[in-house]
Amino acid sequence: MRKNIVAGNWKMNNDLSQTEALISDLNKQIKTSNAEVMIAPSFTNLWHAFEATRQDSIEVVAQNMHFASNGAYTGEVSASMLKSVGIQTVILGHSERRAYFNEDDAILAQKVDTALANNLRVIFCFGEELADRKSGNEEAIVEAQIKNALFHLDASAFKNIVLAYEPVWAIGTGETASPEQAQDMHKFIRKTLNDKYGNQVADNMSILYGGSVKPANAKEIFSKPDVDGGLIGGAALKAEDFYAIVNAF
Ligand code: PGA
Repeated sequence: MRKNIVAGNWKMNNDLSQTEALISDLNKQIKTSNAEVMIAPSFTNLWHAFEATRQDSIEVVAQNMHFASNGAYTGEVSASMLKSVGIQTVILGHSERRAYFNEDDAILAQKVDTALANNLRVIFCFGEELADRKSGNEEAIVEAQIKNALFHLDASAFKNIVLAYEPVWAIGTGETASPEQAQDMHKFIRKTLNDKYGNQVADNMSILYGGSVKPANAKEIFSKPDVDGGLIGGAALKAEDFYAIVNAF
C-alpha cells in the first residue's frame, strides 16, 4: 500500500526564531493525520527542527545535499552530515535547484545514488516548463527526467523513493494544474514505472503533486486516484494553511 504524504518545502525562508515559532504552532495542530507529514527547513535549522518536532507526527527532511561523501566542496552539505542530525529523507531535483544551480539529470542521478547508499529516502522532483506543456511535450519531458535520473536503479531501490511531479509553471505562480491535469500526469508516471519495473513498484510508489497547492484546492487534487499527496511551498509557511492541507486527507 502506498503512503499519503504532505511535505512542506520551506525553501530559503525562516530563520531560527521563525523556525521555532512555526514548529511550535505545527506541533500544537498536527497530532494524528491520514498522511505522513514532513517539513523541510533550511540546513542551518535542521538540527533545531529535528529536536523541536514531535517525531511521531512530523518528520524533518532536507531540501538538498551534495553527491560527494565529503571533501573540498565549499558551502555544500553531505548525506552523512544530514544523517548525523537525524535526517532520514532528502528532497532532490527541485526545479529551483535545476534552474538556478544547474543541476541536470546526470548530477541528480549521482545525488540519488549517494542518498540511497546512505539510507536516506529520496523525494525526487521533476516537471515540465510552460513551453513544454504548450507544445504538448510534457509527458516526454517528464519521462526523460525520471528515466535519466532513476532508471539505472534496481527495483528494490524504489521502496526508498517518493516522486514529486511539480510542473514548473505552477510553482509559486498561483496557477495550479487542474486536478485532471495532475491525475493524467500521475497516471502516466505510474505507467512509466510499471513498464520498466512492473506493478509492484508502480502500485507502491507515492507520487506527490506540487505547484500552488492551497487549502482551497488540496482536497480536490488529493482526491484523484494517482495523487498520493503534495509538496507544498508557499502554503507550508503558515501553520493553519499547512494544517488545512494535511487535513485534506
Ligand atoms: P508552491 O511551491 O506551493 O509555492 O507553488 C511548491 C514547491 O516548489 O515545492
